[in-house]
Amino acid sequence: MTIYYFSGTGNSFVVAHDIAQNVGGKLVCIPDIVTQQHIDMDTARIGIVFPSYLAPVTGVPLIVERFVRKITNIQSIRIFAICTCGGYAWVNAIPSLMKLQAIVTECGGKLHAMYAVRLPMNNLDYAHIPIPINQNHETIIQRSDVKLKAICNRITSGKGTAFGLIKTLFFYLMKPLYALMKNAVMKALKEMAKEPGDSNLSAHALIPRTDQSIVVDDHCIGCGTCASVCPVNNIAIMNERPAFQHRCEMCFACDEWCPLDALHHWSRAKGVKYHHPRIETPVYQRANKGIS
Ligand SMILES: Cc1cc2nc3c(=O)[nH]c(=O)nc-3n(C[C@H](O)[C@H](O)[C@H](O)COP(=O)(O)O)c2cc1C
Ligand code: SF4
Ligand code: SF4
Repeated sequence: MTIYYFSGTGNSFVVAHDIAQNVGGKLVCIPDIVTQQHIDMDTARIGIVFPSYLAPVTGVPLIVERFVRKITNIQSIRIFAICTCGGYAWVNAIPSLMKLQAIVTECGGKLHAMYAVRLPMNNLDYAHIPIPINQNHETIIQRSDVKLKAICNRITSGKGTAFGLIKTLFFYLMKPLYALMKNAVMKALKEMAKEPGDSNLSAHALIPRTDQSIVVDDHCIGCGTCASVCPVNNIAIMNERPAFQHRCEMCFACDEWCPLDALHHWSRAKGVKYHHPRIETPVYQRANKGIS
């Protein structure tokens, strides 16, 4: 079995790592292979671990979508997916998993099982969320460990999952709310991509250009850490400053790992920092080191 993952701030990496250790799989980082023209799976069973991004709009990081669309033998493999999210799993991971399922189905494959794991929110402080939600990172991580054990047992047993009637019903009941949230997110994406409000660019076109609203302040010394942690080589260092190449995935790794706190992404209130506490070095500098 091979576990493919994408992760900006470590949550999805830790989940993928623990699954691979517990069920005995190989770990592969999606950015390391996604530039290949075609991806041929050499194991009969794969897992895809990814963060929920903009649940009411794209749901799935664009790089994960590109990865799935490149799998040549998708019809003949069994796929399970695990989505990590910062909000309530039902509200935030289900739309993302449904979106991944739609992409896999469109490519001729089938998602055999889907799981959601709540981990700390990496892009906002909780004051931005207008609903009561447990904010304690330690508790959230402890609960995710318990959930992961159950997921590992389920994966080992080879059983499939579906969302079942209640969760599917919940998803459809939430659709009007997702539609409202979609409008708000699209408006924000246009602002971040510096597009006019009446632009008809899709979210897929806007997201890579949201790096236009990343602010680099005077503390920057041109050290290049942001460039080295970016999973898609979106940052070049020019004249000792980061220059963004407009293929951003919005993973927030550059913001998180700048040693001088000089780089600020749109939705992180100043001072908001988060990476998974078991990650000591950034995911894309690590070669599987630095996990406790
Ligand atoms: C651009 C962006 C959009 C996000 N959108 C959502 C969302 O819609 N719902 C949610 O619950 N969490 C959302 N999150 C939070 C992440 O899904 C969550 O913290 C995830 O576990 C981070 O995974 P990582 O550490 O592997 O990158 C978002 C994070 C980012 C960076
Ligand atoms: S990591 Fe921070 S200090 Fe270093 S080049 Fe990037 S923005 Fe500047
Ligand atoms: S520029 Fe920053 S946010 Fe965008 S993909 Fe690279 S590391 Fe992630």
